[in-house]
Amino acid sequence: MSANPDQVDTTSRVDPIHPVPSRLLDPAQCPTPYVSSFDQYKTMWKESVEQPEKFFGNLANELLTWSKPFETVRHGSFQEGDVAWFLEGELNACYNCVDRHALKNPNKVAIIHEGDEPDYVKKITYGELLQEVSKLANVLKARGVKKGDNVAIYMPMIPEAIVSLLACARIGAPHSVIFAGFSAESLRDRVVDASAKIVITADEGRRGGKNIATKRIVDDALKACDSVSNVLVYQRTGSEIPWTEGRDLWWHEEMAKARSYCAPERMNSEDPLFLLYTSGSTGTPKGVLHTTGGYLLGAAATVKYIFDYQENDIFACMADIGWVTGHSYIVYGPLTLGATTVLFESTPTYPTPARFWELIAKHKITQFYTAPTAIRALRRLGDQWVEGHDLSSLRVIGSVGEPINPEAWDWYNEKVGKGRCAVVDTYWQTETGSIIITPLPGAIATKPGSATFPFFGIDPVLLDPASGKELEGNGVTGVLAVRQPWPSMARTVYNNHSRFLDTYLKPYPGYYFTGDGASRDIDGYYWVRGRVDDVINVSGHRLSTSEIESALVLHHSVAEAAVIGGHDDLTGQCIHAFVTLKPNVEEAEGLEKELSLQVRKIIGPFATPKRIYLVSDHPKTRSGKIMRRILRKIVNAEHHELGDTSTLADPSIIPSLITKVHG
Ligand code: WTA
Repeated sequence: MSANPDQVDTTSRVDPIHPVPSRLLDPAQCPTPYVSSFDQYKTMWKESVEQPEKFFGNLANELLTWSKPFETVRHGSFQEGDVAWFLEGELNACYNCVDRHALKNPNKVAIIHEGDEPDYVKKITYGELLQEVSKLANVLKARGVKKGDNVAIYMPMIPEAIVSLLACARIGAPHSVIFAGFSAESLRDRVVDASAKIVITADEGRRGGKNIATKRIVDDALKACDSVSNVLVYQRTGSEIPWTEGRDLWWHEEMAKARSYCAPERMNSEDPLFLLYTSGSTGTPKGVLHTTGGYLLGAAATVKYIFDYQENDIFACMADIGWVTGHSYIVYGPLTLGATTVLFESTPTYPTPARFWELIAKHKITQFYTAPTAIRALRRLGDQWVEGHDLSSLRVIGSVGEPINPEAWDWYNEKVGKGRCAVVDTYWQTETGSIIITPLPGAIATKPGSATFPFFGIDPVLLDPASGKELEGNGVTGVLAVRQPWPSMARTVYNNHSRFLDTYLKPYPGYYFTGDGASRDIDGYYWVRGRVDDVINVSGHRLSTSEIESALVLHHSVAEAAVIGGHDDLTGQCIHAFVTLKPNVEEAEGLEKELSLQVRKIIGPFATPKRIYLVSDHPKTRSGKIMRRILRKIVNAEHHELGDTSTLADPSIIPSLITKVHG
């Protein structure tokens, strides 16, 4: 971080620099941002990495309520893999998100639920939320859920999903939310891995005017799953659903029996708050584990500083609660600060592509957070949908999930932000718990496509991938790592600490390894380029190529499959699968379609391959390893620069592969 962007000469640059919009720094127009100059940011950042005990000790006391104070702010190291924060401290995440606001301000709206149909709006106050969460906590306790028991949540985007997370937090039962787009088999794997006792779900979901058979998927998942004693079912649509007597319970019947106050469990700062399964480059999905104090502080601090949250703001994050963005920026971050959070059940294009903009105007949203894939899709549908809506309430608009291309950034800035909002391109991961590289609205001039500078407590480095040496200075490209622990980082992989160490802490000893490649430009700005491992990112959904390959080879005709990420203008990346058939299996008509369905069935619709190629062989080394690099180049039309193919067992297959892909 050498240059001060306020003083950078923008005229001779390739990358345009957008200064902080003057409106944000004008007290007559906007509340003054918490950090309102680059120098102030630099001073605070320096303190946060040089004196983390002081910086985060103060922040943890400012933003969180502790039932027992902590004494030790920071403990452990990347070398030992024993990172812990606020050791002796005790606090309850649900108390911090609900009670303390309900006691002071019971009539403040905590959740605005905008249903699938635009006229379906429900507001829930902090006072009501406390009662609902307490009741559900009592229901769970009555069914034998105790502190430390894992609870699986498979729910549509309804307030009861938030109530479920918070009720688990209240009684100290770590929740494991499984994105409702996952198939029965993926759900089962996750429920089994976490030995969940209870699954909380709904009869059906509603999305884009259609019903989704949520409970049926749960039933399929639980066919071979012994740990689950009860399924609690919220009635969302009232359709007929299958029922297993003795196991299934109606939410409304159980809630009617429950007392409406439940004392929050005393939790140590390092007690687990939740698991969230995510894809890695190898093997089965891993249950990334977050603990209470550090995670909650990260979520709250980033909402405060990165979204510049001020009292009475209306905060809207469009992510699904099944992903980490929903956890941190629909639930824990905004509610810890006592904000009003918007929960959106529908899609950006239902009933029309004006839905987001109508939502912003209707609820006077001040912070709006979505993904590049949605921005690109809406941009493509034309400006007429965004024009004519009153978006003047907005101050900060954010992007997350994948690199945002400058064209999409410009459109978001001009058409949605009207050039008068801060655009924050926020980089982070399930494992980081909260945003780690990002602009701050009042302090950092932005460059479209760059996530700019590190958040407080984050000391990023770029490493040479081969030697692991730090790349010094600016104008360098390498793999992105972090030099010292921060409060909201994941602590382990559930039941598999060695996997945690192997994935994140051992590849480059002494650092946390993100798995992403990045550059630091001549002004010190960070540009995250994308994964350097076998993880692909489709519309911000994180998938591992090996998971998709495993789903394909389960088909009786498939011998071998190689999956790679291709470039896609809309979804960022898309899935291309190269499949060889078993000997004596004919290329039956419709086989590609069948294979595609197989992937949908085993993982979920969002993992559907864009193209499946039936090929006679894969490009392999003499030792039989598939060279995915070559397939990637062919798919992305870079086959004129295949590089050295002499290590291939049979280089003559290349032309046939090119013909297969490009015709
Ligand atoms: C990618 C989502 C560039 C990155 C919060 C990371 C990004 C992965 C950005 C994590 C961004 C996320 N710019 N790339 N602003 N945000 N990514 O765990 O590759 O679902 O490693 O967490 O998304 O995805 P995850």
